Amino acid sequence: MQEAQTPYQLLGEEGIRALCNAFYDIMDTLPEAAGVRAMHARDLAPMKEKLAEYLIGWMGGPPLYADKYGSVCMTEPHEPYHIGPEERDQWLLCMDRALELTGASEEVVAMLKIPLFRIADAVRNREGPSAAATNPNIIAAG
Ligand code: HEM
Repeated sequence: MQEAQTPYQLLGEEGIRALCNAFYDIMDTLPEAAGVRAMHARDLAPMKEKLAEYLIGWMGGPPLYADKYGSVCMTEPHEPYHIGPEERDQWLLCMDRALELTGASEEVVAMLKIPLFRIADAVRNREGPSAAATNPNIIAAG
């Protein structure tokens, strides 16, 4: 019987790097992702590198992020940001589009769907709609 393959084995390091580049290019241009885009620094190049290092380890490859930064906990680096269900879903939308754009197989997409939702939901630190939708001062300030 054939051994189960990890997403890392199926995509390869170059495939994961291409996925992360596409992910942030999509976040940078997709109107529906403007909320999460605005949370990030202007230059997304360092984030492309960090997310790739993170996902290479997370998908079963060498632990590049852990070796460099000493932790794989994603809760702490996200604490300063308002991440509710809306922001989570914007992030996941960019990832769906990036998987599509980079030609990921149906097998990889199916394999990643639930774990990606779980990790994105674990990073969420707010319930309900985003601050912009609930805080009248923010709406008034435009
Ligand atoms: C759920 C919605 C998410 C939002 C809104 C979000 C937003 C952010 C923001 C604003 C930063 C800081 C970027 C900067 O310094 O310019 C960041 C960092 C990061 N995010 Fe996310 N993120 C989300 C989910 C995730 C998930 C699911 C992962 C991993 C699978 C992830 C991986 C990372 C990594 C690796 C960093 C860099 C942390 C560091 O400084 O070492 N993020 N994220």
